Order: sequence, then C-alpha cells, then structure tokens
Amino acid sequence: MRSNSTTSITTTARNTQSQKLLERAKKSLAGGDSSTMRVLPYQLPLVASSGKGSRLRDADGNEYIDLNMAYGPLILGHRPQCVIEAVTKQISESGSQLGFPTEITTRVAEKIKTLFPSMELMRFANSGTEAIASAIRLARTFTGRNRIILFEGNYHGWSESVFQKYHAPLTELPAEGFGPAIPGTSGMLPLGLDAISVRWNDLATFQKVMELYGDTVAGVILEPVMGNAGVIPPQQGFLNGLREVTLDYGSMLIFDEVITGFRVGPGGAQEKYLVTPDITIVSKAFGGGYPVAAFGASREIMDVIVNGPLFHGGVYSGNAVVMAAAEAVLDELLTGQAAIYSHLNRVTDYLCRGLSDIMDRMQVPHITQHIGAVASLFLTTSEVESLNDYRDVRTHCDFEKYIDFQQAAQQRGVFFHPNQFEPMFPSTAHSVSDVDEALDRIEDAARCTLQTWQ
Ligand SMILES: Cc1ncc(COP(=O)(O)O)c(C=O)c1O
Repeated sequence: MRSNSTTSITTTARNTQSQKLLERAKKSLAGGDSSTMRVLPYQLPLVASSGKGSRLRDADGNEYIDLNMAYGPLILGHRPQCVIEAVTKQISESGSQLGFPTEITTRVAEKIKTLFPSMELMRFANSGTEAIASAIRLARTFTGRNRIILFEGNYHGWSESVFQKYHAPLTELPAEGFGPAIPGTSGMLPLGLDAISVRWNDLATFQKVMELYGDTVAGVILEPVMGNAGVIPPQQGFLNGLREVTLDYGSMLIFDEVITGFRVGPGGAQEKYLVTPDITIVSKAFGGGYPVAAFGASREIMDVIVNGPLFHGGVYSGNAVVMAAAEAVLDELLTGQAAIYSHLNRVTDYLCRGLSDIMDRMQVPHITQHIGAVASLFLTTSEVESLNDYRDVRTHCDFEKYIDFQQAAQQRGVFFHPNQFEPMFPSTAHSVSDVDEALDRIEDAARCTLQTWQ
C-alpha cells in the first residue's frame, strides 16, 4: 500500500468543464446522474459529449480510447452506421411506439432464437433488471416454489428478489460458504432464506445447499461467466454440475446472460460451455446501446405467461425504436459471425497480453482473465495463479492501486472503469492499432503510478 494514496478526485485543466457540469447536475439530479455507478466518489470527473467507434469525447474536448463501452452494450462501437440507419428509418417511416404488435418485434425474437435456441418463446423488457424480475416470477410460477439460489459476486440488477450486496466485505460472508443473501440496498425487505447466496465455483457447497433446501428451490440464477466481480470463468464441470443438480431437484436453472450473451460468443455462455439452462436473460450487446432485454424459455415454461397466471407487461417493452436497433445489431452479428467473433477474440486477447506484458516489465503483481470479448485486469497484492471466486478477488486485489492507475490512464486518454470489479468490453470498432495506442498510454500511466506502490 502506498502511503500518499491519491484516490481523491483530481480537478485538472483537462476536466474543468466536466467538473463544472457535474456541479450543475447535482442541483437537479440526485448525486449528478441517474445511475450511482456513474457518479462514484472515486471517479475522475468525466461528462461525456459524444462517442464514435472506439472513441469517446468529453465536455472538455478530450478524446479517450473507450474500453468501457457503456458497460458492455456497445459491441459494434459507438454510433455504428447500421444502427443509425435502422433507427432513423424506423422513426421517420414507421414510428417509435405504435402500441400494437409489430412485425419487427417478431423478427428480432426470431433472430435471437437462431443464436439462443433454448429461448423458444421470449418476452422483451427495457432493462436487465426488469427482464430478470420477470424471469424469477416465471421460475416461481412454473415450479410453485419461492426460494432462489444465487452466487456471491453475481449481480442480477436491483429488483426486490435478487438484489444482493454482491460486493460485501469478506467479514460479512458466511464461513460455511453459503447463507441468506444480504440485501443490496436500504429499503429492501430482508431476503431471509428466500434468497440464499452460495460461493461461486463451489459445486460441493451448492450440492449441500440443495440437499438442505432443494425441494423448495424455484430457481438457481447465475452469470455463467461471472463479470461483476471482474471476469471469473466457471471452473471445469461447474455449470454441468449445476445443470445436473437442478434437474434432480426440479429447480429452474437461470442463466443471466446480460453480459455474456453475444459477447463470450454469438450464442453466449450456454453455447460456449454446452450447458442449456431452463430460463435465459439477454440484454446489453444485442441492443447496441438501446434499452432492451429479453427473457425466454421453452414453450412449456413460457406457457404460464401465454395461458397461465403470470402477468408480464410494459408500455415500452419491445418498442419499435429499440427493436430497430436490435435488429440491425443482430443482422450484423449473424451475417458477419465468424469474422466478428474472431476479431473480438483476437483484440481482447491482444489487449490482455499487452496489459500483462506491461505489468510483467514493471514487476507489478497482476492477473488478466478473459472469455470472448469481456476482460479483466486485476492488480493483486502478490503473485496469484488465478482468481476463482469473489472471495479471491476481495482477498488478493488492491483496489486503491487500481484506482490510482486508472486515473492516470484516464488523464492520458484511455478510459476503463476505476473499479477493477468492472470488466473491459472491447468492440468490433477496436482495431489492433487502437489497442496498441491504448497500451502505450497505459504503460505510461503505469510507470507514473504503479512504481511508487510497494
Ligand atoms: C449480469 C447482469 N445482470 C443484470 C444487470 C442489470 O441490467 P440493467 O442495468 O440493464 O438493469 C447487469 C447490469 O450491469 C448485469 O451486469
């Protein structure tokens, strides 16, 4: 730990306008913006003005190579031409919100199904949180049970039944490796044993929990590649194990593919790891920056919506503007599939190797982990071979050091999130030369900050 930690907000000539705009925002917007994640106390002031391709511009006119890409949705980069054209055509020729079934909504569902065949029937929603809230009700209605199992470090949006304190201090986590999920915010009712949180990648503990509670478990929800405590892939056999045990107990296996869908591969984690869940939620990447999500399952399960007692609605669910954007993104991903995913994998791999080389040269303990186009650089306090669950990240990672390093990178024109729990999200707009440029700036940032840490 460095003695003169610099994790406080720095106002420099580079961000005076952003700083001023944030001060003004705070007079009308609680905290300065509409998501707490965008106005964390340790973030350097950055008010965005525009984005194009792999680049973001701020209110002071600075340009950044953007490795955050709006937390994942911008898989085709900022302002992709195909999305602009589709949305413009939709709003100028047909309308944004028609209030009736439209053909475009069916086409988008059909295209999602070609990549996610397990979503035989689906419904659209406006955010991951919303779609997951419905998916949980779907599992409860179909099974006639209440209890939900989730995993430490996993985030499934902020709805009542699954918003757990996913970044809880280690001291709050149960020694047994499972316990009642801790509510993620004030104002929630206690989750009690209705939601049990289990250590990630720990199949033995999961089995024990199912032996205790399995007959009352409606659903087991997870990010099949954990992305909300940094990228932590499932260990060999973990997803298969969950599949087998949930089948044994008649509980729904629910894959939250909000991050992994269309990103770890065209058909998400279920295609990559060959494990088919009962219920799937997709969002982020297929909307290309427009607010959309979908949840889906087999015809048999979704029948509780079609003919049964489960209500799902939403004035804006599946509205025509986001459907137009989604169709454009899906068309691009489907037609260019092989080339796009080989590019995404290559660029992400190249980024991770480059980051690792920089840290190696500077003898900074670290680890990079990535699957498809979602990547994490973890700065650790000592050399570690791998980080396999949330507790590992909490135990081994140096958060202050990372923030210090991120601030230096931001000041040199590369943006990634200052919290190392947040992954990096390369897009098709990132070329190898963008990554080279980013790495040069990152190396400079690392030299100016990390060498002073011990
Ligand atoms: C894995 C995962 N699930 C769900 C959500 C919630 O999605 P939204 O913010 O669109 O409500 C997120 C958001 O980052 C996420 O990463």
